[in-house]
Amino acid sequence: MKAIAGHCVITIDGPAASGKSSVARELARRLQFVYVNSGAMYRAMTWHILQNPGALQDPAAIAAAAEAAEIVCDLDQDQSRIRINAIDSAEHLRDPAVNEAVSVVSGVPRVREILVEKMRAYAAQHDLVMEGRDIGSVVFPSTPFKFYIDASPEVRFRRRAAEGQRDQIAARDEADSSRPASPLVIAPDAYVIDSSEMSIDQVVSEVMERLRMSGTPVARIL
Ligand code: DC
Repeated sequence: MKAIAGHCVITIDGPAASGKSSVARELARRLQFVYVNSGAMYRAMTWHILQNPGALQDPAAIAAAAEAAEIVCDLDQDQSRIRINAIDSAEHLRDPAVNEAVSVVSGVPRVREILVEKMRAYAAQHDLVMEGRDIGSVVFPSTPFKFYIDASPEVRFRRRAAEGQRDQIAARDEADSSRPASPLVIAPDAYVIDSSEMSIDQVVSEVMERLRMSGTPVARIL
């Protein structure tokens, strides 16, 4: 791992229900970094598009709606918050309709360009832990602090079911991994953790240990 100038960005990528959100949130809390949930940004855009469901059938219409939207990304108590046309759709982000449509919306390259610009703007102002699918591979390829959290499909399915969620994670994984635009991949320099048999605390401790061993400026604050 090598040192980086400016704000520190720790990336946590992985498939649905791998535990990456809980890990990223807890890591950010311990480090007192800002926590950015990039999946929530794609979900908020999906909810926005769903207000005019006809658009979902047509990638050009999705791109046009994303371009026309007024998107404000800021913080609520050190966590990312997104409002589109002044609406905070946080309470709808896990709606079954959003779960079903988010892979379509996030597969549109123009949507990705627009939201990636917002993600990078966070890093201009804050030290971050950002979670997603392509944060280490595409959004912040030069950060040395990349983690990929995995878990077996059975464990991930059980975790979602335990949350009482209707979410076709296998279908979403397939769509997220096979799409042409920024598919889910393991960045070559990411440190991979299989969380199948681990608690969130154990994963966070392993990430912290890895950061401590990095010998970079971030190690000094741990
Ligand atoms: O992390 P999540 O399950 O809330 O993400 C929802 C969807 O958003 C996911 O199926 C794919 C998309 N996504 C993406 O394409 N790129 C990211 N960096 C984060 C999420």
